[in-house]
Amino acid sequence: MVVINESGKLKATLTGEMYTSPSVFQLEKKHIFSESWIFVGYEYEVKEPGEFIRTKVEHENIMVVRGKDDVLRAFFNVCRHRGATLCSADTGKAGIFRCPYHSWSYGLDGTLLGVPNTSECKEQLVKNEQYGLEPVHLQLWHGMIWLNLSEHPKPIEQQIDAQMIERFGNLETFARYGLENLRVAHREEYEVDANWKIIIENFQECYHCSAIHPELTETLPEFRSGIGTQNGIGTGAKFNESYQAFSISGKGNRARLKDLLPEDDRTYYGITILPLVFINLTPDHLIIHRSIPINAHKTKVICDWLFDPAEMAKSDFDPSDAVELFHRVNLQDFEACQWCQENMGSKAYRKGGLLVPVEQHVSRFYDYVLEAIQLPENEKGIF
Ligand code: FES
Ligand SMILES: [Fe+2]
Repeated sequence: MVVINESGKLKATLTGEMYTSPSVFQLEKKHIFSESWIFVGYEYEVKEPGEFIRTKVEHENIMVVRGKDDVLRAFFNVCRHRGATLCSADTGKAGIFRCPYHSWSYGLDGTLLGVPNTSECKEQLVKNEQYGLEPVHLQLWHGMIWLNLSEHPKPIEQQIDAQMIERFGNLETFARYGLENLRVAHREEYEVDANWKIIIENFQECYHCSAIHPELTETLPEFRSGIGTQNGIGTGAKFNESYQAFSISGKGNRARLKDLLPEDDRTYYGITILPLVFINLTPDHLIIHRSIPINAHKTKVICDWLFDPAEMAKSDFDPSDAVELFHRVNLQDFEACQWCQENMGSKAYRKGGLLVPVEQHVSRFYDYVLEAIQLPENEKGIF
């Protein structure tokens, strides 16, 4: 990253064009989103044989389905005959998948099972692996389903575990939150008029916290310093002394997640898993953001609040106090992201801006992006 003053305390941001250029976005699609493990859902959503969810990674229609052999698989949701979308339901349970167009049918393991009125070539087609549904690489990680469109994906550990270790110094801290046992109690979706990088950068710095997050800094007073929990190995932020829970009122009597340590009490940890996921750990619930880049200046963010199903089963379970805190934080963050996006094409931002020392880990994100997209040598000067 370019150091722009002699003390080395200020660093250059990316230039405005990096946040508006369709050609940069295309490079990011090709080299980042299509080459990375992308989080699309939870294993518990496809627990029984035949259960499926439909999703998208990039422009690709994909379905994730549990086979009769209990194996979870992902396929392109594209009929091998003439390319129709095979399954149009978002979720459901199926015995086979029958294409709505000419009724070719496929098994839950992707095998082509039936092709009507084709006695001449039926044998050539049916049960021939070559004509089954095209598979997509799938990995489970703590109950999360991750897909990778690359033909030869890098091991998922290289992407996720490496970032966990960088953040916590170990894998145990995150593991003890038992994400695989939790369930989504509430989901919010946000359409943000901002480039995905602005959103991810925002998750990675707390310099803005004192200015725009009154409720969050009330809950986590040390965030007023501008240093968030993402900055130090293993560090978490302690709740305000009068707060019992990570909620808008500070009240809450849900049991802490069962494998946590005393040091996790009244403590918040945040971690970004590049390229697109942000996870927040609190003693009784997790909050998971996934960003879905739409184009150079638009991103959808899905935010899930996950709780212990034993708590959710109680008659007085009400997550709204907890949801309200981070929902407000989200609205504040995404509005701020839009303040920046609307000026990324300005003459005043042609050369970009500055990062101050408490934001300098954001420059590592710039390096990650620039290294991944492999800008042609003759274009490097532009950005
Ligand atoms: S496109 Fe699916 S059966 Fe023809
Ligand atoms: Fe924020």
